[in-house]
Amino acid sequence: MPVAIITGASKGLGRALAEALAGRGWDLVLDARGARALADTAGVVSAHGTRVSALPGDVTDAAHRAELVSAARRLGGVDLLVHNASALGAEPLVRLEELSLEGLRRALEVNLVAGLALVQGTLPLLRASKAGTVVAVSSDAAAEAYATWGGYGASKAALDHLVAVLAVEEPGLRVWAVDPGDMATDLYAAAVPDDREPRPEPSAVVPGFLRLLDERPASGRYGAPALLDGPR
Ligand SMILES: NC(=O)c1ccc[n+]([C@@H]2O[C@H](COP(=O)([O-])OP(=O)(O)OC[C@H]3O[C@@H](n4cnc5c(N)ncnc54)[C@H](OP(=O)(O)O)[C@@H]3O)[C@@H](O)[C@H]2O)c1
Repeated sequence: MPVAIITGASKGLGRALAEALAGRGWDLVLDARGARALADTAGVVSAHGTRVSALPGDVTDAAHRAELVSAARRLGGVDLLVHNASALGAEPLVRLEELSLEGLRRALEVNLVAGLALVQGTLPLLRASKAGTVVAVSSDAAAEAYATWGGYGASKAALDHLVAVLAVEEPGLRVWAVDPGDMATDLYAAAVPDDREPRPEPSAVVPGFLRLLDERPASGRYGAPALLDGPR
């Protein structure tokens, strides 16, 4: 069975991706800081008959990241790394004049530095896979200048560039930065608590990610919503 590591898999998009991959027979290594929600996800996912290693921890913790890689190795390797865990830098979001430097550093550590560290830790296993794939979950805020999204958006823009270079350096892998589009999740509610616009559930954009895995287009940046109804 192929093996995926998904960070930030206890809820939201990460959980929806884990459930979808489990339904397709993937074995999974999952993390999140909150142990209870992660265990709940692991229970649901393992009902598919998939092997699941659910390890509570923070992606910024090197020892925890090493545990994730070891768990994947025990399952047989790494075919897919999804760096989905994310920090906003301020909750709710604030304008740059108010953004604490500590908040910006936290967004960079979680969204960017931990992503690179996981890539570095999994590269030998990804190269050994027949279909080694890296998915960096990005955001519209990486490409558009929205007031208050500056720190988070800068960290996601840096992540986009990092994986674009990775794609050049690792032509044997598929490396995709994927913007999932707006979703009704705790992250969005924490970012903009007063927002009342209806937004899609994360499970609604998962088919866009699955299409990437099925069709394996060139490495690059993709929008999951566009993949839902784009030409085939
Ligand atoms: N929601 C949107 O509208 C939207 C739009 C564009 C992009 N995105 C991106 O989509 C991805 C998923 O976000 P979401 O909206 O699904 O958020 P979510 O529902 O809040 O889920 C975030 C997940 O990441 C985990 N997490 C957060 N910080 C972590 C850390 N330091 N170490 C390990 N796990 C951590 C959370 O669990 P714990 O808190 O227990 O750790 C949770 O499992 C993120 O990369 C986000 O930037 C979201």
